[in-house]
Amino acid sequence: MKTKVLVTGGLGYIGSHTVVALLRANYEPVIIDNLDNSRIGILQQIEKITGVSPEFHYIDLCNEAQLADLITNDESIHNIIHFAAHKAVGESVAEPLKYYRNNFNSLFSILKAFEGKKMNLVFSSSCTVYGQPDELPVSEVAQVKKAESPYGNTKQVAEEILQDVATADKLKNIISLRYFNPVGAHESALIGELPSGVPQNLVPFVTQSAAGKRGPITVFGNDYDTPDGSCIRDYIHVVDLAEAHIAALQLLEKGNAEGNYDVFNVGTGNGYSVLELINAFETTTGVKLNYQIGPRRAGDIVKVWGDVTKSREKLGWQARLGIEEMMRSAWAWEQYLQTNQIN
Ligand code: WQD
Repeated sequence: MKTKVLVTGGLGYIGSHTVVALLRANYEPVIIDNLDNSRIGILQQIEKITGVSPEFHYIDLCNEAQLADLITNDESIHNIIHFAAHKAVGESVAEPLKYYRNNFNSLFSILKAFEGKKMNLVFSSSCTVYGQPDELPVSEVAQVKKAESPYGNTKQVAEEILQDVATADKLKNIISLRYFNPVGAHESALIGELPSGVPQNLVPFVTQSAAGKRGPITVFGNDYDTPDGSCIRDYIHVVDLAEAHIAALQLLEKGNAEGNYDVFNVGTGNGYSVLELINAFETTTGVKLNYQIGPRRAGDIVKVWGDVTKSREKLGWQARLGIEEMMRSAWAWEQYLQTNQIN
């Protein structure tokens, strides 16, 4: 009998890669998704990679009753990885209530459905909670600063809620994973990032520009206090990120998360500037990029990369894939999308 793991947002970018990793690790993923920012066609893509079409429930997590029915009817579900949330920083500034309502109500639905029950929860958090760190690399004990966006605030407050719940209820074992910048795609090029509209994030814009779907890349500022003037980020391959969720789940199953609540940085520990990433893409793929220097983007922090010591020593996980494989796989996925439609 395989251990079931509920994966909310399991058809999304990071969710789908984690479902593949769960299947590889001999778990039985049960996907919940409202298809708000994902496509049902990803199910078939997962089956092409793994030979398995995972159990799928078309559920909006804000609908408490739908989730409660699923959890009540399947007593064997104790493990949950919670990805489902709105995550566009800019949109959250324009529509804060949409973000607070969705991201908190979905979390409350999960906590209500598991009331009185054992629950191992891996929560999708973000390095955005650090803001611009005072010290780099930034470690998990660094001060969590006032979020720069309602999106970032939903992650900060959710972490506080989960810590309080874990303190009050010893049946709840919870780990928050603070992602740095997820990029790249599965080696099969059958799943990857599917941004809707004009990509807000750097790498999908780079690959769409390289594919001729977009015009030149605009580098948002090259007058920052960094070696080449452009912002620095800790880019992490989405496959490494997915594996971190398996490691977190296994730590929870062993029951030795610190005081039944713990937090881990999930990054590589290395920082790359925007211009260095552009160069890495060109060198790795042989595709020349067309880019221009533009004005700074409001809200951008200058530089952040993670101290990943705790994840290596306590989670027993570290990133394996470098910037070259991040760029190669992102480009291979973009090329797959040139000739394949995912509905
Ligand atoms: C990276 C760098 C931009 C686009 C955000 C969220 C974070 C997470 C990942 C959800 C920055 C520069 C970008 C472009 C550019 N989201 N850039 N031209 O802002 O670090 O992180 O997305 O979990 O929480 O905050 O990622 O990819 O948008 O930007 O120069 O066309 O690339 O200025 O320096 P970011 P990003």
